[in-house]
Amino acid sequence: MKLWGGRFSKNTDKTVDDFNSSISFDSRMYRQDIRGSLAHAKMLGKCGVIPEEEAALICKTLSEILADIEKGRVEFEIDAEDIHMNIEKILISRIGDTGKKLHTGRSRNDQVALDLRMYLKDEIKEIKSLLAALETALLDIAEKNLTVILPGYTHLQRAQPVTLAHHMMAYFQMFGRDMERLDDCYKRTDVMPLGSGALAGTTYPLDRQAVADELGFSAITANSLDAVSDRDFAIELLSCLSIVMMHLSRFCEELVLWSSLEFGFVEMDDAYSTGSSIMPQKKNPDVAELVRGKTGRVYGSLVTLLTVMKSLPLAYNKDMQEDKEAVFDAVDTVKMCLPVFTRMLLTMKVKKENMYRAAQGGFTNATDIADYLVKKGVPFRSSHEIIGRLVLFCIQNGKSIEELGLQELKSFSPLIEEDIYEAISLERCVSERKLPGGPAVESVMEAIRKGRIFLSRT
Ligand code: ARG
Repeated sequence: MKLWGGRFSKNTDKTVDDFNSSISFDSRMYRQDIRGSLAHAKMLGKCGVIPEEEAALICKTLSEILADIEKGRVEFEIDAEDIHMNIEKILISRIGDTGKKLHTGRSRNDQVALDLRMYLKDEIKEIKSLLAALETALLDIAEKNLTVILPGYTHLQRAQPVTLAHHMMAYFQMFGRDMERLDDCYKRTDVMPLGSGALAGTTYPLDRQAVADELGFSAITANSLDAVSDRDFAIELLSCLSIVMMHLSRFCEELVLWSSLEFGFVEMDDAYSTGSSIMPQKKNPDVAELVRGKTGRVYGSLVTLLTVMKSLPLAYNKDMQEDKEAVFDAVDTVKMCLPVFTRMLLTMKVKKENMYRAAQGGFTNATDIADYLVKKGVPFRSSHEIIGRLVLFCIQNGKSIEELGLQELKSFSPLIEEDIYEAISLERCVSERKLPGGPAVESVMEAIRKGRIFLSRT
Protein backbone atom coordinates (compact mmCIF):
# COMPACT_ATOMS: atom_id res chain seq x y z
CA MET A 1 0.00 0.00 0.00
CA LYS A 2 1.19 3.51 -0.87
CA LEU A 3 1.90 5.94 1.96
CA TRP A 4 -0.77 8.14 0.41
CA GLY A 5 -3.08 5.21 -0.50
CA GLY A 6 -6.04 6.05 1.79
CA ARG A 7 -8.01 8.02 -0.75
CA PHE A 8 -7.58 5.52 -3.55
CA SER A 9 -9.69 2.48 -4.33
CA LYS A 10 -7.25 0.96 -6.84
CA ASN A 11 -3.53 0.45 -7.16
CA THR A 12 -1.64 2.60 -9.59
CA ASP A 13 -0.97 0.97 -12.91
CA LYS A 14 2.45 -0.63 -13.14
CA THR A 15 3.40 1.73 -15.97
CA VAL A 16 2.46 4.67 -13.77
CA ASP A 17 4.64 3.37 -10.94
CA ASP A 18 7.59 3.26 -13.31
CA PHE A 19 6.73 6.57 -14.89
CA ASN A 20 6.16 8.43 -11.66
CA SER A 21 9.09 7.07 -9.76
CA SER A 22 12.22 9.12 -9.20
CA ILE A 23 14.04 6.71 -6.91
CA SER A 24 16.44 5.65 -9.66
CA PHE A 25 17.97 9.11 -9.60
CA ASP A 26 17.00 10.76 -6.32
CA SER A 27 18.35 7.90 -4.18
CA ARG A 28 21.68 9.72 -4.29
CA MET A 29 20.16 12.23 -1.85
CA TYR A 30 19.60 9.59 0.85
CA ARG A 31 22.10 11.17 3.22
CA GLN A 32 20.54 14.61 2.95
CA ASP A 33 17.06 13.13 3.28
CA ILE A 34 17.97 11.35 6.49
CA ARG A 35 19.84 14.33 7.92
CA GLY A 36 16.79 16.48 7.21
CA SER A 37 14.49 13.97 8.86
CA LEU A 38 16.75 13.73 11.89
CA ALA A 39 16.61 17.49 12.37
CA HIS A 40 12.85 17.55 11.79
CA ALA A 41 12.16 14.69 14.23
CA LYS A 42 14.40 16.19 16.91
CA MET A 43 12.62 19.52 16.60
CA LEU A 44 9.17 17.83 16.69
CA GLY A 45 10.17 16.26 20.00
CA LYS A 46 11.60 19.50 21.44
CA CYS A 47 8.53 21.50 20.48
CA GLY A 48 6.23 18.90 22.02
CA VAL A 49 4.55 18.06 18.72
CA ILE A 50 5.44 14.41 19.29
CA PRO A 51 6.68 12.80 22.53
CA GLU A 52 10.42 13.21 23.02
CA GLU A 53 10.98 9.44 23.48
CA GLU A 54 9.32 8.80 20.15
CA ALA A 55 11.43 11.47 18.49
CA ALA A 56 14.48 9.78 19.98
CA LEU A 57 13.40 6.37 18.66
CA ILE A 58 12.80 7.86 15.19
CA CYS A 59 16.26 9.42 15.23
CA LYS A 60 17.96 6.25 16.43
CA THR A 61 16.22 4.20 13.74
CA LEU A 62 16.97 6.73 11.00
CA SER A 63 20.64 6.54 11.93
CA GLU A 64 20.49 2.76 11.68
CA ILE A 65 18.81 3.01 8.29
CA LEU A 66 21.57 5.37 7.16
CA ALA A 67 24.23 2.91 8.29
CA ASP A 68 22.43 0.07 6.51
CA ILE A 69 22.17 2.05 3.28
CA GLU A 70 25.89 2.81 3.45
CA LYS A 71 26.65 -0.86 3.93
CA GLY A 72 24.56 -1.63 0.85
CA ARG A 73 21.97 -3.52 2.89
CA VAL A 74 18.94 -1.57 1.70
CA GLU A 75 17.10 -2.05 -1.56
CA PHE A 76 14.93 0.83 -2.60
CA GLU A 77 11.55 0.13 -4.20
CA ILE A 78 10.18 1.71 -7.36
CA ASP A 79 6.67 1.48 -5.86
CA ALA A 80 7.70 3.73 -3.01
CA GLU A 81 8.28 6.38 -5.66
CA ASP A 82 11.10 8.49 -4.35
CA ILE A 83 13.86 8.64 -1.75
CA HIS A 84 11.62 10.44 0.73
CA MET A 85 8.90 7.79 0.82
CA ASN A 86 11.37 4.92 0.55
CA ILE A 87 13.10 5.99 3.73
CA GLU A 88 9.86 6.76 5.51
CA LYS A 89 8.51 3.35 4.54
CA ILE A 90 11.58 1.59 5.88
CA LEU A 91 11.28 3.60 9.08
CA ILE A 92 7.65 2.57 9.49
CA SER A 93 8.48 -1.04 8.74
CA ARG A 94 10.97 -0.96 11.60
CA ILE A 95 9.10 0.99 14.31
CA GLY A 96 5.46 1.03 13.21
CA ASP A 97 3.20 3.81 14.47
CA THR A 98 6.03 5.89 15.90
CA GLY A 99 7.61 6.00 12.44
CA LYS A 100 4.30 7.28 11.10
CA LYS A 101 4.74 10.44 13.17
CA LEU A 102 7.87 11.63 11.36
CA HIS A 103 5.97 13.33 8.56
CA THR A 104 3.96 15.52 10.97
CA GLY A 105 4.02 19.13 9.78
CA ARG A 106 6.04 18.28 6.70
CA SER A 107 5.36 17.57 3.04
CA ARG A 108 7.50 15.98 0.41
CA ASN A 109 7.32 19.35 -1.28
CA ASP A 110 9.32 21.14 1.37
CA GLN A 111 11.32 17.96 2.01
CA VAL A 112 12.57 17.65 -1.57
CA ALA A 113 13.42 21.34 -1.66
CA LEU A 114 15.44 20.85 1.52
CA ASP A 115 17.25 17.76 0.25
CA LEU A 116 18.19 19.36 -3.04
CA ARG A 117 19.47 22.48 -1.32
CA MET A 118 21.61 20.46 1.08
CA TYR A 119 22.90 18.29 -1.74
CA LEU A 120 23.82 21.24 -3.91
CA LYS A 121 25.46 23.13 -1.06
CA ASP A 122 27.94 20.27 -0.75
CA GLU A 123 28.44 20.07 -4.49
CA ILE A 124 29.07 23.81 -4.78
CA LYS A 125 31.79 23.52 -2.15
CA GLU A 126 33.37 20.60 -3.94
CA ILE A 127 33.27 22.26 -7.34
CA LYS A 128 34.78 25.38 -5.82
CA SER A 129 37.67 23.38 -4.45
CA LEU A 130 38.23 21.78 -7.87
CA LEU A 131 38.26 25.25 -9.39
CA ALA A 132 40.73 26.37 -6.73
CA ALA A 133 43.04 23.50 -7.72
CA LEU A 134 42.84 24.59 -11.34
CA GLU A 135 43.54 28.17 -10.30
CA THR A 136 46.60 27.08 -8.33
CA ALA A 137 47.84 25.16 -11.37
CA LEU A 138 47.41 28.27 -13.53
CA LEU A 139 49.39 30.39 -11.08
CA ASP A 140 52.17 27.80 -10.99
CA ILE A 141 52.34 27.56 -14.76
CA ALA A 142 52.28 31.35 -15.04
CA GLU A 143 55.11 31.69 -12.55
CA LYS A 144 57.27 29.33 -14.60
CA ASN A 145 56.59 31.07 -17.89
CA LEU A 146 56.87 34.76 -17.10
CA THR A 147 59.22 35.44 -20.01
CA VAL A 148 57.95 32.89 -22.50
CA ILE A 149 56.79 34.97 -25.44
CA LEU A 150 54.06 33.90 -27.83
CA PRO A 151 51.80 35.79 -30.18
CA GLY A 152 48.56 37.09 -28.77
CA TYR A 153 45.73 36.82 -31.28
CA THR A 154 42.66 38.69 -32.33
CA HIS A 155 40.46 37.14 -35.01
CA LEU A 156 42.90 34.22 -34.66
CA GLN A 157 45.42 36.39 -36.53
CA ARG A 158 48.74 37.15 -34.86
CA ALA A 159 48.32 40.51 -33.18
CA GLN A 160 50.85 41.49 -30.51
CA PRO A 161 53.35 39.54 -28.44
CA VAL A 162 52.29 38.48 -24.95
CA THR A 163 53.65 35.89 -22.55
CA LEU A 164 52.41 32.45 -21.71
CA ALA A 165 52.15 33.61 -18.10
CA HIS A 166 49.86 36.44 -19.12
CA HIS A 167 47.77 34.06 -21.21
CA MET A 168 47.39 31.66 -18.26
CA MET A 169 46.44 34.53 -15.99
CA ALA A 170 43.62 35.45 -18.36
CA TYR A 171 42.09 32.08 -17.58
CA PHE A 172 42.85 32.61 -13.91
CA GLN A 173 40.56 35.64 -14.01
CA MET A 174 37.78 33.71 -15.73
CA PHE A 175 37.79 30.82 -13.29
CA GLY A 176 38.13 33.28 -10.43
CA ARG A 177 34.88 34.91 -11.49
CA ASP A 178 33.35 31.44 -11.68
CA MET A 179 34.32 30.87 -8.06
CA GLU A 180 32.74 34.16 -7.04
CA ARG A 181 29.58 33.30 -8.94
CA LEU A 182 29.40 29.99 -7.08
CA ASP A 183 29.76 31.84 -3.77
CA ASP A 184 26.87 34.02 -4.73
CA CYS A 185 24.76 31.05 -5.80
CA TYR A 186 25.63 29.33 -2.52
CA LYS A 187 24.08 32.20 -0.57
CA ARG A 188 20.71 31.68 -2.18
CA THR A 189 20.95 27.89 -1.90
CA ASP A 190 21.73 28.17 1.80
CA VAL A 191 18.12 28.88 2.84
CA MET A 192 16.04 26.32 4.74
CA PRO A 193 12.53 25.53 3.39
CA LEU A 194 11.10 23.06 5.96
CA GLY A 195 8.01 24.39 7.70
CA SER A 196 6.52 25.43 4.38
CA GLY A 197 4.52 22.20 4.24
CA ALA A 198 2.91 21.33 0.95
CA LEU A 199 2.45 25.00 0.08
CA ALA A 200 0.67 26.84 2.90
CA GLY A 201 2.88 26.29 5.92
CA THR A 202 1.60 24.25 8.84
CA THR A 203 -0.53 24.59 11.95
CA TYR A 204 2.00 22.86 14.22
CA PRO A 205 4.21 25.07 16.37
CA LEU A 206 7.41 24.09 14.56
CA ASP A 207 10.72 25.77 15.32
CA ARG A 208 11.98 26.47 11.82
CA GLN A 209 15.04 28.33 12.98
CA ALA A 210 16.14 25.39 15.15
CA VAL A 211 15.99 23.10 12.11
CA ALA A 212 17.98 25.62 10.08
CA ASP A 213 20.60 25.86 12.82
CA GLU A 214 20.81 22.12 13.22
CA LEU A 215 21.35 21.65 9.49
CA GLY A 216 23.76 24.55 9.13
CA PHE A 217 21.58 26.84 7.05
CA SER A 218 22.11 30.61 7.23
CA ALA A 219 18.44 31.53 6.91
CA ILE A 220 14.91 30.20 6.56
CA THR A 221 12.72 30.76 3.51
CA ALA A 222 10.35 33.72 3.72
CA ASN A 223 7.24 32.49 1.90
CA SER A 224 5.82 28.98 1.92
CA LEU A 225 4.45 29.12 -1.64
CA ASP A 226 7.78 30.28 -2.98
CA ALA A 227 9.78 27.87 -0.84
CA VAL A 228 8.23 24.74 -2.34
CA SER A 229 8.19 26.00 -5.91
CA ASP A 230 11.52 27.75 -6.10
CA ARG A 231 14.28 26.13 -8.13
CA ASP A 232 16.12 29.38 -8.86
CA PHE A 233 19.09 28.15 -6.86
CA ALA A 234 19.40 25.12 -9.14
CA ILE A 235 19.04 27.25 -12.24
CA GLU A 236 21.66 29.62 -10.91
CA LEU A 237 24.00 26.73 -10.29
CA LEU A 238 23.43 25.44 -13.82
CA SER A 239 24.16 28.93 -15.15
CA CYS A 240 27.37 29.08 -13.15
CA LEU A 241 28.36 25.64 -14.37
CA SER A 242 27.52 26.53 -17.96
CA ILE A 243 29.88 29.48 -17.70
CA VAL A 244 32.58 27.26 -16.17
CA MET A 245 32.21 24.88 -19.11
CA MET A 246 32.20 27.75 -21.60
CA HIS A 247 35.53 28.87 -20.12
CA LEU A 248 36.92 25.35 -20.17
CA SER A 249 35.80 24.88 -23.77
CA ARG A 250 37.59 28.04 -24.87
CA PHE A 251 40.74 26.87 -23.15
CA CYS A 252 40.37 23.41 -24.68
CA GLU A 253 39.89 24.86 -28.12
CA GLU A 254 43.19 26.71 -27.75
CA LEU A 255 44.97 23.63 -26.50
CA VAL A 256 43.66 21.60 -29.43
CA LEU A 257 44.94 24.27 -31.80
CA TRP A 258 48.20 24.67 -29.93
CA SER A 259 48.95 20.96 -30.05
CA SER A 260 48.48 20.80 -33.83
CA LEU A 261 51.56 20.61 -36.02
CA GLU A 262 50.48 23.95 -37.49
CA PHE A 263 50.90 25.70 -34.14
CA GLY A 264 53.19 23.32 -32.28
CA PHE A 265 53.03 25.43 -29.09
CA VAL A 266 52.40 22.57 -26.66
CA GLU A 267 52.46 18.83 -26.47
CA MET A 268 50.13 16.93 -24.20
CA ASP A 269 51.68 14.28 -22.03
CA ASP A 270 51.21 10.74 -23.33
CA ALA A 271 49.13 9.99 -20.25
CA TYR A 272 46.64 12.64 -21.36
CA SER A 273 46.49 11.83 -25.08
CA THR A 274 45.15 8.99 -27.13
CA GLY A 275 46.04 7.30 -30.41
CA SER A 276 44.24 6.23 -33.53
CA SER A 277 43.19 2.68 -34.29
CA ILE A 278 44.20 3.09 -37.92
CA MET A 279 46.81 5.86 -38.20
CA PRO A 280 49.92 4.76 -36.33
CA GLN A 281 51.41 8.25 -36.10
CA LYS A 282 48.46 9.92 -34.38
CA LYS A 283 48.51 11.49 -30.97
CA ASN A 284 45.22 13.21 -30.31
CA PRO A 285 44.24 15.75 -27.66
CA ASP A 286 41.08 13.80 -26.81
CA VAL A 287 40.84 15.06 -23.26
CA ALA A 288 40.63 18.67 -24.39
CA GLU A 289 38.17 17.75 -27.13
CA LEU A 290 35.95 15.79 -24.79
CA VAL A 291 35.83 18.55 -22.21
CA ARG A 292 34.93 20.92 -25.05
CA GLY A 293 32.25 18.49 -26.17
CA LYS A 294 30.77 17.96 -22.72
CA THR A 295 30.01 21.66 -22.54
CA GLY A 296 26.93 20.89 -24.59
CA ARG A 297 25.38 18.63 -21.99
CA VAL A 298 25.77 21.22 -19.25
CA TYR A 299 24.16 23.92 -21.41
CA GLY A 300 21.47 21.34 -22.17
CA SER A 301 20.76 20.87 -18.48
CA LEU A 302 20.39 24.61 -17.99
CA VAL A 303 17.90 24.83 -20.84
CA THR A 304 16.08 21.76 -19.53
CA LEU A 305 15.49 23.27 -16.12
CA LEU A 306 14.63 26.73 -17.43
CA THR A 307 12.07 25.07 -19.67
CA VAL A 308 10.70 22.82 -16.93
CA MET A 309 10.13 25.86 -14.72
CA LYS A 310 8.74 28.06 -17.45
CA SER A 311 5.06 28.92 -16.92
CA LEU A 312 4.63 26.69 -13.87
CA PRO A 313 1.84 28.06 -11.69
CA LEU A 314 2.46 28.26 -7.95
CA ALA A 315 3.24 26.22 -6.03
CA TYR A 316 4.77 22.72 -6.37
CA ASN A 317 4.10 20.84 -9.60
CA LYS A 318 5.28 17.37 -10.41
CA ASP A 319 7.10 18.75 -13.44
CA MET A 320 9.71 19.83 -10.94
CA GLN A 321 10.81 16.26 -10.37
CA GLU A 322 12.54 16.70 -13.74
CA ASP A 323 15.02 19.07 -12.10
CA LYS A 324 17.23 16.43 -10.56
CA GLU A 325 18.63 14.48 -13.49
CA ALA A 326 19.58 17.69 -15.24
CA VAL A 327 21.28 19.14 -12.17
CA PHE A 328 23.02 15.91 -11.24
CA ASP A 329 24.32 15.36 -14.74
CA ALA A 330 25.72 18.87 -14.92
CA VAL A 331 27.34 18.60 -11.51
CA ASP A 332 28.83 15.19 -12.35
CA THR A 333 30.11 16.44 -15.69
CA VAL A 334 31.85 19.48 -14.23
CA LYS A 335 33.32 17.39 -11.42
CA MET A 336 34.69 14.97 -13.97
CA CYS A 337 36.08 17.61 -16.33
CA LEU A 338 37.88 19.88 -13.88
CA PRO A 339 40.42 17.49 -12.32
CA VAL A 340 41.35 15.76 -15.56
CA PHE A 341 41.72 19.10 -17.30
CA THR A 342 43.92 20.42 -14.49
CA ARG A 343 46.21 17.40 -14.61
CA MET A 344 46.42 17.60 -18.39
CA LEU A 345 47.47 21.22 -18.09
CA LEU A 346 50.07 20.53 -15.43
CA THR A 347 51.70 17.75 -17.45
CA MET A 348 51.62 19.55 -20.80
CA LYS A 349 54.97 20.36 -22.41
CA VAL A 350 55.47 23.96 -23.48
CA LYS A 351 57.41 24.42 -26.72
CA LYS A 352 58.88 27.85 -26.08
CA GLU A 353 60.93 28.05 -29.26
CA ASN A 354 57.90 27.50 -31.46
CA MET A 355 55.94 30.09 -29.55
CA TYR A 356 58.75 32.61 -29.94
CA ARG A 357 59.16 31.86 -33.63
CA ALA A 358 55.45 32.40 -34.18
CA ALA A 359 55.63 35.73 -32.39
CA GLN A 360 58.47 36.78 -34.71
CA GLY A 361 56.27 36.36 -37.76
CA GLY A 362 53.15 38.29 -38.63
CA PHE A 363 54.50 41.74 -37.74
CA THR A 364 53.35 41.45 -34.14
CA ASN A 365 55.60 44.42 -33.30
CA ALA A 366 53.99 46.76 -35.84
CA THR A 367 52.07 48.66 -33.15
CA ASP A 368 55.32 49.24 -31.29
CA ILE A 369 56.96 50.69 -34.38
CA ALA A 370 54.03 53.05 -34.73
CA ASP A 371 54.43 53.94 -31.05
CA TYR A 372 58.16 54.54 -31.70
CA LEU A 373 57.31 57.31 -34.14
CA VAL A 374 54.63 58.70 -31.84
CA LYS A 375 57.30 59.09 -29.15
CA LYS A 376 59.26 61.13 -31.72
CA GLY A 377 56.34 63.49 -32.19
CA VAL A 378 54.35 61.92 -35.05
CA PRO A 379 50.58 61.89 -34.42
CA PHE A 380 49.39 58.29 -33.93
CA ARG A 381 47.10 58.16 -36.99
CA SER A 382 49.91 59.38 -39.27
CA SER A 383 52.33 56.96 -37.72
CA HIS A 384 49.81 54.11 -38.16
CA GLU A 385 49.64 54.90 -41.86
CA ILE A 386 53.42 55.11 -42.31
CA ILE A 387 53.93 51.76 -40.62
CA GLY A 388 51.05 50.27 -42.60
CA ARG A 389 52.98 51.15 -45.76
CA LEU A 390 56.14 49.74 -44.24
CA VAL A 391 54.39 46.43 -43.48
CA LEU A 392 53.00 46.26 -47.01
CA PHE A 393 56.51 46.83 -48.38
CA CYS A 394 57.83 44.00 -46.21
CA ILE A 395 55.06 41.63 -47.30
CA GLN A 396 55.74 42.43 -50.95
CA ASN A 397 59.46 41.80 -50.46
CA GLY A 398 59.11 38.78 -48.19
CA LYS A 399 60.97 40.39 -45.29
CA SER A 400 60.36 41.15 -41.67
CA ILE A 401 60.73 44.73 -40.41
CA GLU A 402 63.92 43.98 -38.46
CA GLU A 403 65.51 42.64 -41.64
CA LEU A 404 65.37 46.04 -43.35
CA GLY A 405 68.46 48.25 -43.20
CA LEU A 406 68.35 51.65 -41.54
CA GLN A 407 68.39 53.51 -44.86
CA GLU A 408 65.45 51.49 -46.14
CA LEU A 409 63.58 52.22 -42.90
CA LYS A 410 64.41 55.90 -43.11
CA SER A 411 62.74 56.10 -46.50
CA PHE A 412 59.45 55.61 -44.64
CA SER A 413 60.26 58.21 -42.00
CA PRO A 414 63.42 60.24 -41.49
CA LEU A 415 62.73 60.08 -37.74
CA ILE A 416 63.69 56.40 -37.64
CA GLU A 417 67.14 55.93 -36.06
CA GLU A 418 69.43 53.06 -35.13
CA ASP A 419 67.58 52.62 -31.78
CA ILE A 420 64.55 51.29 -33.67
CA TYR A 421 65.92 47.76 -33.67
CA GLU A 422 66.09 47.56 -29.91
CA ALA A 423 62.78 49.39 -29.50
CA ILE A 424 60.84 46.84 -31.51
CA SER A 425 62.31 43.62 -30.18
CA LEU A 426 59.64 41.20 -28.92
CA GLU A 427 61.11 41.46 -25.44
CA ARG A 428 60.68 45.23 -25.47
CA CYS A 429 57.18 44.99 -26.89
CA VAL A 430 56.27 42.94 -23.83
CA SER A 431 58.33 44.72 -21.19
CA GLU A 432 56.99 48.14 -22.18
CA ARG A 433 53.45 46.98 -21.48
CA LYS A 434 53.78 47.29 -17.77
CA LEU A 435 50.51 48.95 -16.79
CA PRO A 436 48.43 47.00 -14.29
CA GLY A 437 46.77 44.19 -16.25
CA GLY A 438 49.49 44.11 -18.91
CA PRO A 439 51.86 41.32 -19.98
CA ALA A 440 55.16 42.76 -18.66
CA VAL A 441 56.86 40.54 -16.12
CA GLU A 442 56.28 42.92 -13.21
CA SER A 443 52.59 43.35 -14.07
CA VAL A 444 52.06 39.60 -14.31
CA MET A 445 53.97 39.00 -11.09
CA GLU A 446 51.66 41.46 -9.39
CA ALA A 447 48.65 39.64 -10.87
CA ILE A 448 50.01 36.35 -9.56
CA ARG A 449 50.58 37.84 -6.11
CA LYS A 450 46.99 39.09 -6.02
CA GLY A 451 45.83 35.75 -7.36
CA ARG A 452 47.46 33.90 -4.47
CA ILE A 453 45.74 36.23 -2.02
CA PHE A 454 42.41 35.69 -3.77
CA LEU A 455 42.81 31.93 -3.47
CA SER A 456 43.84 32.06 0.18
CA ARG A 457 40.59 33.92 0.94
CA THR A 458 38.18 31.58 -0.80
N1 ARG B 1 9.88 13.05 -6.04
C1 ARG B 1 9.32 14.33 -5.94
C2 ARG B 1 10.22 15.35 -6.64
O1 ARG B 1 11.29 15.02 -6.92
C3 ARG B 1 9.17 14.73 -4.49
C4 ARG B 1 8.05 15.67 -4.22
C5 ARG B 1 6.78 15.03 -4.57
N2 ARG B 1 5.65 15.75 -4.10
C6 ARG B 1 4.45 15.44 -4.49
N3 ARG B 1 3.48 16.12 -3.99
N4 ARG B 1 4.20 14.49 -5.36
O2 ARG B 1 9.85 16.45 -6.90
